[in-house]
Amino acid sequence: MGDTRVAKTQQYWDTADEHKRIKSEIVCAYLKPWAQIIGKGSDNLFYLDLFSGRGQFHDGTLATPLKVLDLVRDNPPLKQKLQISFYEGNRANFRALQEVVRCHEVYTQLTYEPQITCQTINSDFIARLTCNIQPGTYTFIDPYGYSDISLDLLDAVTRSWGCDCLFYLSISGLVRNIKSEPKWPRIREFLGDGPFAKIERVLEKSTESTNLAKILFQEIEAELRRRREYYVLPYCVEFDQARRPSHYLVFLSKHYLGFKIMRDIMVKYSDVDADGLPLFAFSPKGGITHKQKEFFGTRRMRELADKLHRDFVPRTLRVRKVFDECLKRGYPYQDKHLLKAMEKLRLQRRLVKCELSGEREDTPITNKSVVTFVLSSEDGKGQ
Ligand SMILES: C[S@@+](CC[C@H](N)C(=O)[O-])C[C@H]1O[C@@H](n2cnc3c(N)ncnc32)[C@H](O)[C@@H]1O
Repeated sequence: MGDTRVAKTQQYWDTADEHKRIKSEIVCAYLKPWAQIIGKGSDNLFYLDLFSGRGQFHDGTLATPLKVLDLVRDNPPLKQKLQISFYEGNRANFRALQEVVRCHEVYTQLTYEPQITCQTINSDFIARLTCNIQPGTYTFIDPYGYSDISLDLLDAVTRSWGCDCLFYLSISGLVRNIKSEPKWPRIREFLGDGPFAKIERVLEKSTESTNLAKILFQEIEAELRRRREYYVLPYCVEFDQARRPSHYLVFLSKHYLGFKIMRDIMVKYSDVDADGLPLFAFSPKGGITHKQKEFFGTRRMRELADKLHRDFVPRTLRVRKVFDECLKRGYPYQDKHLLKAMEKLRLQRRLVKCELSGEREDTPITNKSVVTFVLSSEDGKGQ
């Protein structure tokens, strides 16, 4: 890293902003339930933290590595089974991290001493790491931008059994740089040739930044899904002054159970729209205006109801089965949100509740109800 970049990026450690706290909490909240599930199938569990940082902000607030150690301290199975590896490229940060980790009370109680490595993460390192990822690894990847990582890295850390990953992506950085041709080679390295070629075609038309962020993320998601049957769950961590997405904290898993756990965690940390649907976003105070919420609200619930209808018409099935199928298909919404969407469809006469379930037809839909998704005259018009 150049000196100016180091000095600039070192400001990161001055303030423990709320979005940084949320990022750490989401990382930690997944560790215990993940370990409980994966621990049933394996005695070895690995937590891999790339771009680990200093462990602590200058004001003493704990950063992710120390929060992880606190969590491990309070969970005996983690103390026994978890093998932790931290990688940090900046020497001063590495030393600070080494000191706070070694001073942590849990350090001497662990079966496996945490490995702390001063390491610049680059393509050579990624190539070596790729061969060494063990089954049962939960990885957190948290660079400042995107320039030291690649979709190949994400693929490598999630390839084996029981491997899930959270990565933090500066989408605003990507949007900024994609408008400048000299930055393209690095972006091509990050995305890979295929997705980059598609983005290049989009760039031939002039595109507004918000749309570009959306298109870029869609392309990243599509490329990941092309490689593997992933569940991909993005959480928009921050909005800049212009109310555009700044970063995405993205969860990657191959299993719907992991997806469900992370969905529920992210919902807890999420702003909601006017209909109570989670936006999978955090915005600093005033980030999303009331007006925007209303706008999102009407449209998003309608979109959810339409999607449910498209996916299930003309089937008759128990609501519990609808929940189950929606989860496996990667709907990011919880059962209560699906119930609301089903009630909306019922009002539109695109869903009927059957007497079959032993419930009266006019009572609210519950998970025990049996429903039929039906085509209405409105649906017919569109065909
Ligand atoms: C966003 S901070 C990490 C914050 C930390 N993950 C947390 O949640 O507490 C990014 C860190 O990556 C380090 N870094 C930047 N580029 C790097 C590279 N190429 N290799 C290794 N570390 C790097 C920086 O020194 C910095 O400490």
